[in-house]
Amino acid sequence: MHINLNGRNALVLGGNKGIGFGIARGLSEAGAHVILTSRSLSDAEAAAAKIGATGLACDTGSPDSVGALCAAMDKVQGGIDILVLNSGGPPPGSAMGISSDQWRASFESMFVGLVRMADHVLPGMRAKNHGRILSVISSGVIEPIPNLAISNAIRPALTGWMKTLANEVAKEGVTVNAIAPGRIETDRLLQIDTANATKQSKSMDEIRAAAMARIPAGRYGTVDEFAAAAVFLASDQASFMTGSIVRVDGGQIASTM
Ligand SMILES: NC(=O)c1ccc[n+]([C@@H]2O[C@H](COP(=O)([O-])OP(=O)(O)OC[C@H]3O[C@@H](n4cnc5c(N)ncnc54)[C@H](OP(=O)(O)O)[C@@H]3O)[C@@H](O)[C@H]2O)c1
Repeated sequence: MHINLNGRNALVLGGNKGIGFGIARGLSEAGAHVILTSRSLSDAEAAAAKIGATGLACDTGSPDSVGALCAAMDKVQGGIDILVLNSGGPPPGSAMGISSDQWRASFESMFVGLVRMADHVLPGMRAKNHGRILSVISSGVIEPIPNLAISNAIRPALTGWMKTLANEVAKEGVTVNAIAPGRIETDRLLQIDTANATKQSKSMDEIRAAAMARIPAGRYGTVDEFAAAAVFLASDQASFMTGSIVRVDGGQIASTM
């Protein structure tokens, strides 16, 4: 099977590093014209330059910034064919005592800003009878992760929206899926492991070894392994897959459902 994304325009939010950059690189290698974003324009441009993409600024937690990106997307010839909804993870922490301001800020950047972006490009996708929307979520949607209360609470909202939308646009050639990372080696994972080491008064080696022991594959995943699933879901070949959560977790999630 050969995946060919020539002629497709892809927008990858949070695409300058980690999982987002891996997806942006994979889409670009498959032939798509990629636009990737970071909150910092210079970081976006630097990452984009590595893969022949276009870099733009966007903070999904800022309505003005999302509005500016929506306006920029209106100028993309042919419109957006592939939209990857990705953003930064929220601060780690337990469920008790999170401030209302923190809940609102996280909901804005992890839900409202992403859904608004999708709403903006959806009319173009529906008119073309083709589109791909992918959300980067977390294994915590299926099996909540200790000390990640905000993620465990907000990502299921995005997943519920994803499934509802998938059913609404399935007859119009637009697929909508989510990909759940288990533990993928990135800066974010380093942040999570560091927080756990501090909370449990353990060394990073101990924390990593304990985490890997819970993964049947016995290791963390790579960004490229994650991106491969995203590129497939973005392809024409994935036309009958919609409304799904695809796991890239080395078997970590304990249940099959
Ligand atoms: N890695 C894992 O194992 C894992 C597991 C479960 C879930 N996840 C989730 O998957 C997503 C990607 O993870 P990652 O490991 O690739 O994280 P990462 O390496 O920290 O990268 C996060 C990306 O999001 C961007 N970003 C951060 N805050 C943003 C905001 N408010 N608006 C727009 N972009 C923003 C960052 O760019 P700038 O900082 O330059 O803006 C960066 O491109 C995160 O939501 C993470 O929580 C990751």
